[in-house]
Amino acid sequence: MKNINPTQTKSWARLSEQAKEKKALTIKSLFSENKRFEKYSIQLEDILLDYSKNRIDDSIKASLFDLAEEVNLKSAIESMFTGEKINLTENRAVLHTALRNRSNSPVYFEGNDVMPDINSVLKQMKSFADQVQEGKWLGYTGKPIKSLVNIGIGGSDLGPVMVTEALKPFQNPSLEIFFVSNVDGTHMAETLKKVDPETTLFFIASKTFTTQETMTNAHTARSWFLKTAKDETAVAKHFVALSTNAKSVEEFGIDTKNMFAFWDWVGGRYSLWSAIGLPIACVIGFDNFEKLLAGAHSMDKHFRSARFEENIPVILALIGLWNTNFLGATSEAILPYDQYLHRFAAYFQQGNMESNGKYVSRSGEKVDYPTGPIIWGEPGTNGQHAFYQLIHQGTHLIPCDFIAPANSHNPIGDHHVKLLSNFFAQTEALMNGKSYEEVIAEMQKAGKSKEEIEKIALHRVFEGNRPTNSILVKELNPYTLGQLVAMYEHKIFVQGVIWNILSFDQWGVELGKVLANAILPELHGDENVSSHDGSTNGLINAYKAMRK
Ligand code: F6P
Repeated sequence: MKNINPTQTKSWARLSEQAKEKKALTIKSLFSENKRFEKYSIQLEDILLDYSKNRIDDSIKASLFDLAEEVNLKSAIESMFTGEKINLTENRAVLHTALRNRSNSPVYFEGNDVMPDINSVLKQMKSFADQVQEGKWLGYTGKPIKSLVNIGIGGSDLGPVMVTEALKPFQNPSLEIFFVSNVDGTHMAETLKKVDPETTLFFIASKTFTTQETMTNAHTARSWFLKTAKDETAVAKHFVALSTNAKSVEEFGIDTKNMFAFWDWVGGRYSLWSAIGLPIACVIGFDNFEKLLAGAHSMDKHFRSARFEENIPVILALIGLWNTNFLGATSEAILPYDQYLHRFAAYFQQGNMESNGKYVSRSGEKVDYPTGPIIWGEPGTNGQHAFYQLIHQGTHLIPCDFIAPANSHNPIGDHHVKLLSNFFAQTEALMNGKSYEEVIAEMQKAGKSKEEIEKIALHRVFEGNRPTNSILVKELNPYTLGQLVAMYEHKIFVQGVIWNILSFDQWGVELGKVLANAILPELHGDENVSSHDGSTNGLINAYKAMRK
């Protein structure tokens, strides 16, 4: 992959000019052009992306595509798909796309086709998931498994949580799934209250099998289990490991027969497609897990082959970049109008912020332009009654992605049309706003006095012109969810390429871990500490004085 400072390209210079020249451009006015919706929307199978409500016209769009060409995006995409070691600081390839390569065409890494290994783990996962689904995987007293507890954190938690929540309608009703991620003992304690050791299966999910939170929780779960089972050999029926680290799995006491492997070319936040997805396959069934992979594969093929002008992830990435680098947005909201997607934004907080929250370029220099935005969001309509006020009338520009399924899994009364009426209304309101004149007319019509109108009118004005994307999906199912997740993964990748940063490492999480390990032994005794700065010493000593 080439090292190109995007701000030194011709297209970046042109975009900067366009941003100045077209400062007054309103999204609303862009709709005077015929067929803007048709020109600024793309349909891929059952997914429709409407990006027409952005402050982008044909000339800006053209410059954005030029930028993608100038930074050699096409060859960067090929580098990822073909197993080049694009994760430079860890000297690793980035091949999560191979995990869902349903065409089974060879994918080479260091000269070897990775597909046979992937297929063999998938076969092992299928056999295990089928047994759990059919009630044939029995606990140490011969009872079928009822409760699954995934112990993992970050990418070893967020993906399985998000997907199992999103695909609840596809869940086997005789199984329930829990997730323990936080090292806060409360998370484990509250979960263990709900499960029975005889019918519980623990998935210890950790790429490295060294993560402090996961290992602590795993040991606690094991002790809790053995307190009842009182037999070490019973552990094999109740603990499985999802990891790349066979040695540590064995040391923990899990038989490597019960280990589901993956590889260091699977990034943690891209791992739900690997053995980390086993709990997903167990609750929704392996067939559905394969559909999830197939959906992602369909988006992979689209991303790899479609012209940039028709390429959903590329377009989303370029719009995001325009908003961030030329319109000054610092965050992006992901707003699913689907309760089942309530962890979707949280999932992409890691996906996006751990990937593109970087200030050092691929060539090792500090960048002088903004990179990854802050990602946040909650499902609509809840968000409307919480933080939308700021999106509509605040001083920050917050580009939003609105996501909704056309069909609900729960068609009760008129709930879904009400939900969708809000989905459509919000992007319309964010674009059109409401002018001072409109407010006055409205208040006059409502019979308000001149005095009252003068006092309140300005507060009721909406500037509008706030950019949004709408993503309408026929139905949320394993296949379309796979497509949506892969779509955002590739958006993040494209932005990382253009920003010339390394999207697949995460050194920024290390310092806190190291310092916590240094502080941990200091918390044991009662003596005051003095090895830190004044604030940290003060806090630690205050804690020691407070604790019972
Ligand atoms: O937070 C840092 C991180 O390394 C993430 O990238 C990863 O998803 C998470 O920790 C968990 O790591 P592991 O799967 O190795 O336990």
